[in-house]
Amino acid sequence: MPSPIFATIFLVVLIGTFVTCTKGAPRAFFVFGDSLVDNGNNNYLITSARADSPPYGIDYLTHRPTGRFSNGFNIPDLISQELGAEPTLPYLDPGLTGDKLLVGANFASAGIGILNDTGVQFANIIRISQQLQNFEQYQARVSALLGEEQTQMLVNKALVLITLGGNDYVNNYFFTPVSARRLQYNLQDFSVYIISEYRKILMRLYDLGARRVLVTGSGPLGCVPSSLASRSTNGECAEEPQRASAIFNPLLVQMIQSLNQELGSDIFVAANAVDMQNDFIRDPQAFGFITSKVACCGQGPYNGVGICTAASNLCPNRDLYAFWDPFHPTERANKIIVQTIFTGSDKYMTPMNLSTIMAIDSL
Ligand SMILES: *[C@@H]1O[C@H](CO)[C@@H](O)[C@H](O)[C@H]1NC(C)=O
Ligand SMILES: *[C@@H]1O[C@H](CO)[C@@H](O)[C@H](O)[C@H]1NC(C)=O
Repeated sequence: MPSPIFATIFLVVLIGTFVTCTKGAPRAFFVFGDSLVDNGNNNYLITSARADSPPYGIDYLTHRPTGRFSNGFNIPDLISQELGAEPTLPYLDPGLTGDKLLVGANFASAGIGILNDTGVQFANIIRISQQLQNFEQYQARVSALLGEEQTQMLVNKALVLITLGGNDYVNNYFFTPVSARRLQYNLQDFSVYIISEYRKILMRLYDLGARRVLVTGSGPLGCVPSSLASRSTNGECAEEPQRASAIFNPLLVQMIQSLNQELGSDIFVAANAVDMQNDFIRDPQAFGFITSKVACCGQGPYNGVGICTAASNLCPNRDLYAFWDPFHPTERANKIIVQTIFTGSDKYMTPMNLSTIMAIDSL
């Protein structure tokens, strides 16, 4: 039977370990958003939006599926590497306890969007308001270990990534030819509306203590193999989804600039994922890809029909493809994106790139 005194000593030693770990350890990293950044939360949910069977993960360290929508690492993993940290665990992973909590956490859930009515077809997914509630719960759990002040510091010094917006088009506005949102709004007005909702979500993150937040919008929605297969007749990027990305991303940059101005600090940093990906979509060979149109894993034209499963076509060398499945980039394309996030010019990063931010933060 452990006596109360031993329990107390144990707790003191435990807290001591945590405090020491916080010093000199990489900054914590928190991730919110959709399938582009989900590290496996949906494995624990009853939903069709999942990546936990082969060949997902074929190039991961374990060569097994993890729940990441990639052949290997995804964007958050590669950012963790740059931070000198291990990958964040999914918030629902039972292993996320003790000192693992100090690494941060991944709250993202494939299929979700800015709006609550996005991704309803996936049933049980963690919508953004719930992701933010989980972040609050996370902070309460860490407070129980470190105390409130240390927890506040951990969160304030952390890097945060949030990726939202693509599904509000693909799995909402464009999902059916007569979606409720399409009947309600034209594309421009819908985009203005979801940006105004995105702003509220970012303010809530700020209220929860986030002070360095990397914000990404949609990728080039009309150029993904799924769009080429279903909405394009000649293999050119599909017009309407491409227009959506072209409207959404500049609005996102404007909104972030105004938010930073209001807060009097560069809290939010916009990453223009469309321009980053358009570069290798326009000239795949220049980036070492043989194609940016055909997905590595899938079926039908451009391997862009349906989803990637064990029965799909599978390319032998994933590094030669920009797209892994009908919607998501390969690990190699993710590396190009993350490299641009770190060192890209102001064409891609507003107000500055992540290496500049990290240099400022380390002063
Ligand atoms: C989405 O749902 C949450 C929780 O029910 C709610 O707090 C939030 O206001 C809703 N968002 C929108 C845009 O309706
Ligand atoms: C981005 O990072 C590089 C260093 O890797 C730096 O030289 C460059 O000036 C930065 N660009 C901007 C716009 O901050």
